[in-house]
Amino acid sequence: MGRLNPILVWSLCLSLCLFLCPTSAQLKTNFYANVCPNVENIVKNVVTQKFQQTFVTVPATIRLFFHDCFVQGCDASVIVASTGNNKAEKDHPDNLSLAGDGFDTVIKAKAAVDAVPQCKNKVSCADILALATRDVIVLSGGPSYAVELGRLDGLSSSSKNVDGNLPQPTFNLNQLNSMFASHGLSQADMVALSAAHTVGFSHCNKFSNRIYSFSPGTQWTPV
Ligand code: HEM
Repeated sequence: MGRLNPILVWSLCLSLCLFLCPTSAQLKTNFYANVCPNVENIVKNVVTQKFQQTFVTVPATIRLFFHDCFVQGCDASVIVASTGNNKAEKDHPDNLSLAGDGFDTVIKAKAAVDAVPQCKNKVSCADILALATRDVIVLSGGPSYAVELGRLDGLSSSSKNVDGNLPQPTFNLNQLNSMFASHGLSQADMVALSAAHTVGFSHCNKFSNRIYSFSPGTQWTPV
């Protein structure tokens, strides 16, 4: 893991814009001005505390936001827990490796917001995740930027909706381009967004075949 580089910072700012642009007409930076004017500071304080406990807060929160936004939009549906008769997004195999510190960040920030009587039940977890992502970027050395607010939390969360909607490490360029294009993102956007991997880690089973199956003379690693 390391500090964010400029490409990553740019990519994340871009991701926030592009993920949210389709609904930007309904979003505004002062969305909570009347009902919870201090929401940004409340979230920032919680995120700062988490960051001071563990740097994992940074990659965990960034990836959580990405996995939330690519499935059913940025509606915090990735945070919803499964019930007896519903397997939620977070229990889909593609989400099982989401680091717990991302969830913990949002849950703690939401609790802190709701502890203020004026703010109770007024701020969506979707907005808190968007703010927390901005905050971890700032805390890890990136620039600050305004986050437009007003997202609604999803009313459903189903593991089935994750199927085929998150990129796999085995994807070739066409598959990656196609998936990002389905979200209105170009190849250049996809490459820039992939710089998010400047921070965080990957389990060996996600890439070991690309190291140990390499044959001299081939132009690219096997997938
Ligand atoms: C381009 C297609 C992408 C593929 C194929 C991909 C795949 C992966 C894989 C396989 C891992 C390792 C997971 C594990 O072993 O636990 C990972 C980690 C990560 N990904 Fe992606 N990813 C993609 C795009 C993105 C984007 C767009 C973002 C955010 C803007 C992102 C953010 C992250 C972060 C921060 C981690 C590290 C998580 C941690 O350390 O907890 N990824 N990704």
